[in-house]
Amino acid sequence: MAKALITSALPYINGVKHLGNLAGSLLPADIHARYRRQIGDETLFICATDEHGTPAELAAAEAGVEVADYCRWQHAAQAEIYRRLNLSFDHFGRTSSPRNHALTQHFFHCLDARGFIAERVLQQVYSPADGRFLPDRYIIGTCPYCDFDRARGDQCENCTRPLDPTDLITPRSALSGSTALEIRPTRHLFLRQSALVGALEDWLASRKGWPPLVTSIARKWLDEGLADRCITRDLAWGVPVPKPGFEGKVFYVWFDAPIGYIAATQDCSDADPAERDWRDWWQADDVGYTQFLGKDNVPFHAVSFPCTLLGSGEPWKTVDIIKGVNWLTYEGGKFSTSGGRGVFLDEALDLLPADYWRWWLAANAPESHDTDFSFERFATDVNNDLADTFGNLVNRILTFLANRYGGIVPDGGTAAESEAHLAATLQQLLDGLRVHQDTCSLRKATAEVRAIWRLANGYLAEQAPWTSLAADPERTAVVVRTSINLLGVAATVAWPFIPAAAATVLTALGRPSDLPAWPRSAADALNEIPAGQVVALLPVLFAKLAPEWVEANRLRFSGAGG
Ligand code: MF3
Ligand code: ZN
Repeated sequence: MAKALITSALPYINGVKHLGNLAGSLLPADIHARYRRQIGDETLFICATDEHGTPAELAAAEAGVEVADYCRWQHAAQAEIYRRLNLSFDHFGRTSSPRNHALTQHFFHCLDARGFIAERVLQQVYSPADGRFLPDRYIIGTCPYCDFDRARGDQCENCTRPLDPTDLITPRSALSGSTALEIRPTRHLFLRQSALVGALEDWLASRKGWPPLVTSIARKWLDEGLADRCITRDLAWGVPVPKPGFEGKVFYVWFDAPIGYIAATQDCSDADPAERDWRDWWQADDVGYTQFLGKDNVPFHAVSFPCTLLGSGEPWKTVDIIKGVNWLTYEGGKFSTSGGRGVFLDEALDLLPADYWRWWLAANAPESHDTDFSFERFATDVNNDLADTFGNLVNRILTFLANRYGGIVPDGGTAAESEAHLAATLQQLLDGLRVHQDTCSLRKATAEVRAIWRLANGYLAEQAPWTSLAADPERTAVVVRTSINLLGVAATVAWPFIPAAAATVLTALGRPSDLPAWPRSAADALNEIPAGQVVALLPVLFAKLAPEWVEANRLRFSGAGG
């Protein structure tokens, strides 16, 4: 039995996430975790909210609440949404937890003791009116390129150009509006990544099976020459820097956030020490660790976080495979939180149950290129795959069984050549699906699941039990029994993708639905559910989405005036 440690990039605390965040890390990680549990691997799936940094401070200030309160509420709100999405975290933690504070400071002490921390003086913008240094995005002014009058010191939202605060025309504080800004010296700590290049190169060379996208981003960072990285900030909210002379400063959010993967595991084992020990996952040799994240996160996971772990000199588990994906775009453009453009996860769940979204985002995963979400493509795929293929399969088999056999799986007859042929084809598809699930290729995996659904529909259409019932009841019993079992397999392999619908079908078939085990073999799987089993009839599982529904939602989420 293998041990699988799985993490999803930690979603920022500053508000409800959109479909792109789900597609980029949360969903692929969940599908993989469910699959690994299905094949019997000992699996630990960890996530948390990423709670520090300026975005959290700013969002709390906008909401007019204390940042600690803001984070507590937002964490609860996100947790509830992920529960509704059926994301099967073993633990959903918080980077603001005491465990993460302690562990972040611990890593800093290790790095400092080994000479990997350097002190430097930086010149930064200070606002006497606010009594504090202002991070780049706390400084706003007029964009020198497009004249937009609320450009931020790190980027202009209007023309998207990256900026330096000194580029802004008439810069002012985003907090107080004060224009009396000064440049003052301030001391900061740097992680000497340049001294860790050798260790990092060796480590990278020992990693196998990364997607080309991830490897090329990691290489680019190294080949450009790894710069030392400032890991402290003049902020109040964050993990305090435990060093004399640095009172009032905190660690940079990207320093403490990935440490949160470990701290969340510690919180998980604190919650149930008899069941779990975090050392079995983070200080062990027998673990396979896979990280799921979007491409913008690759440098932090392939370079920065490994520097922290390797530089500590302690035997920490490092990632084996980074599954980085491209962007999900929205109706031909970007998702925009501030512009209200795109579908956010609470809105998505109010429109349709989780399975619809999960299926579409997996079947159209932005793996080898960016993928565009549009309501039209969404409806087409949902209607074809979920309503017409899987839903129809369930409905045909269960209705026939209910009408002709009183919902009881019939006895009699023996499997013939068509069943042997069916088993052989099914075995091939199952083998293919396993390969795609093992390599986290979601598009290919969903194509294989779809092929299994089609195989079942095809078998039913070909054997047409409704025409043979009167003339050959023995043969018909075999076909119906086989079809019921085939439906069980169809639901079992669909379970990582559409867990709610799959569980409903498995329950109706009298099968375990919490964790349906991967079929040992196709032949066995086709004889699992015995004659005499009582099977429930189910209402329609997936509604068809009409053109009017598509049009109404396209307009509603376009960001054009709400
Ligand atoms: N919050 C970051 C983002 O959404 C991801 C942080 S991943 C972590 O881009 F590992 F650093 F926590
Ligand atoms: Zn601009």
